[in-house]
Parts: sequence; C-alpha cells; structure tokens
Amino acid sequence: MTTLRERRQQCPLPLLEFHLLWQQVLGVSRSWLVAHDTDPLTDASCRSYDALETRRVAGEPMAYILGMREFLGRDFRVTPAVLIPRPETELLVECGLEAVRDRTAPRILDLGTGSGIVGISMALARPDAQVRATDCSEAALSVARMNARSLGAKLLFLLGNWYDDPCGSGTFDVIVSNPPYVPAGDAHLSCGDLRFEPAGALTDGADGLSALRTIIRGAPRHLSSGGALCVEHGFDQAAAVRTLFHAQGFRDVASLRDLAGIERITWGRLPARIFDE
Ligand SMILES: C[S@@+](CC[C@H](N)C(=O)[O-])C[C@H]1O[C@@H](n2cnc3c(N)ncnc32)[C@H](O)[C@@H]1O
Repeated sequence: MTTLRERRQQCPLPLLEFHLLWQQVLGVSRSWLVAHDTDPLTDASCRSYDALETRRVAGEPMAYILGMREFLGRDFRVTPAVLIPRPETELLVECGLEAVRDRTAPRILDLGTGSGIVGISMALARPDAQVRATDCSEAALSVARMNARSLGAKLLFLLGNWYDDPCGSGTFDVIVSNPPYVPAGDAHLSCGDLRFEPAGALTDGADGLSALRTIIRGAPRHLSSGGALCVEHGFDQAAAVRTLFHAQGFRDVASLRDLAGIERITWGRLPARIFDE
C-alpha cells in the first residue's frame, strides 16, 4: 500500500494542485492531508487520483477538474460550458454595485452571464434589486441557474443575443457585462487554460471590440435616466472603449485598473433626464 508522502515524491504537479486533487478524491481538508500523509491509500482512491492527475498534466484547468472556482468569497460551479471566473471580474461587480449605491430597488442587467458570477454576486449584495441575466448559450445558463439555486440568489435568466427580445422590455439602472473581447486569431487563444474554455466566451471572432460596440451602442435605449454601463475589456482596449462610451453620450467615463495596474473595466453614466421617471 502506498501513502500520500510516497505519491508526492513521484508527482509532477505543484504541491497545492496535488493537495487539491487529493482533497477532491478523499473529500477531506488540506490540513487532514498534511496530518495523514503516512496513512495507507486504497487502490480505488489511487486510481481516481491518477485519472485527475492525467487530466491536469494534459493541461486541463484545475477549475474544470474540480468543477468549482471561488469568486468574491463564494464557490461557483463551473463546467467547460462557461468561462472560468477571473479575479479582475470582481472589479466589474464592485463597479456595478457602486453605480447603483444610491438607488433603491435597482434594476440590473448582466449581459453574457456565463456561470452567473456577476449577476448572482450583485443580486446577493443587493437583495432589493431586480436582476436579469442573459446569455446566448443555454448550456451556460443552466450552470448559472444551478449557481443561483445553490447560493440562494434570486434573478431572472434569459436566453438571447445581447439586447434581443428578452431585454427589450423595461429599462435598467445599470448594465454590466464581461463580453468576449479577445480578437480572432490572437495567439493566447491557443495557450494555457484558454484552449479548454468555450471559444464563444473568449472571442468575438472579429477585432475584439465587436461585442463591446453592440453593448455600448445599445445601452442608451435600455438604461434609465442617469443609468450606468460598466464593461470589462482587454488590457489594450480601454482607450477605444472610452471613445465608444463618449460617442453614445455617456458622462464621467472612467477606466478602472485591476491589481496588476491594467485598465480592465470602463464605466460611464447617462445624463439624468429632468422630465421623465
Ligand atoms: C467572457 S464570458 C463572461 C462570462 C461571465 N459573465 C464571467 O464574467 O465569467 C462572455 C459570455 O458572453 C456570452 N455571449 C457571447 N456572445 C453572446 C451574445 N451574442 N449574446 C449573449 N451572450 C453572449 C458567452 O456565452 C459567455 O458566457
């Protein structure tokens, strides 16, 4: 019979990944693994572990192997049907929440919700809000619905192409979106984790700005007076995105930097109309 300590000596993975895979197999905590590293392992658990290690060595992202990724302190279920949540998207949620801080019962629209991380996090932070979240992928929406159920978030999920019919009715106080923004043919698409993620979540199949253009141009028709739009974009797209915001009449347009100092989120607010609402 082999032990964790012996298995560790032959393992090609970093220690953290070795532990995460064994935690998955044995259903135990990391501290348990450290305390029991000389306990004998069963053949069945070794076989289960080996299957996971083979996937990881082949490059499959840990989030898909574990079926989970943490976002803003909560565990979200992820499958290969959805983008793996990124830490910089937490800034999009903060920006969206800040935009409606002074509104009661705000109406929120999350375009391209994927696993639901943005809409669900906002719904949980603002239980008084009405949150609608859309995606063009039914497979992604079923992951998002599962996450909303398990986290106890109330929001309406709709299948659709950006502002097509499902979003046509009513206006929103804030629209948030992390759309596909990697240009077609970008070398990153064939590297690392991105090889395993859905292409339709990563690239617009064009210059990287086509989904952002559709979202920014359509926003004024779907925003309330003084409503805000917050979008995530690529590391080199901030200036182009700010220009698109200004062209649609947004004010106070600003880009926010992520922890690496890169402009990742751009937002702006429509002027308040005096005689409506
Ligand atoms: C970059 S992922 C973002 C997912 C999630 N919001 C996040 O931040 O992790 C973009 C999402 O937009 C969706 N999407 C792509 N094209 C779309 C379209 N035309 N209409 C609606 N959603 C679309 C994709 O299916 C994907 O789930």
